[in-house]
Amino acid sequence: MSLAMTLHLLAAIVWVGGMFFAHMALRPAAAQLLDPPQRLPLLLKVFDGFFPWVWLAVILILVTGSWVLFSVFNGAATTSVWIMTLVGTLMAAIFVFIYAVPYHRMSEALQAGELPKAGEAMALIRKLIGTNLILGLSVTTLAVAGKYSGF
Ligand code: HEM
Repeated sequence: MSLAMTLHLLAAIVWVGGMFFAHMALRPAAAQLLDPPQRLPLLLKVFDGFFPWVWLAVILILVTGSWVLFSVFNGAATTSVWIMTLVGTLMAAIFVFIYAVPYHRMSEALQAGELPKAGEAMALIRKLIGTNLILGLSVTTLAVAGKYSGF
């Protein structure tokens, strides 16, 4: 249980912290200083580096969370843990969609030199990462506040 929860928390920190940095600091700085021909390849490289860690984080969160929920708690969990399970699964689905659709599209468009198409894919990735960031911060708040208030 302690190992599973440590991995669960480390994975949440890497995923949510990475999204916070990318969304709140890196992207606005790149938008201010760089034009699309420089900005879009930079952001693609950032995703190339970050997304393998997100895959690992998503797998760890789902495996450790489900293990604690079903093997340790035997499915008898508080409402906040059930909401976490639902929202966590939604976040994972959003990430898989980002990876499979707009990230793939952005990579192909940049290889073909189609900047407007890459820009469109990037705009979708930005919205979806923004959504997952809000969900991740909310679910973390709910998980911790829920645990210490018994919700
Ligand atoms: C399928 C998805 C998930 C499942 C099944 C799950 C399950 C669990 C379980 C069973 C606990 C232990 C609760 C307790 O000790 O009372 C827990 C704790 C926690 N989870 Fe999740 N979780 C999931 C997704 C997430 C996500 C996506 C995040 C954040 C991005 C997250 C953040 C946390 C945090 C911060 C705690 C620690 C609460 C504390 O001990 O103070 N979980 N989770």
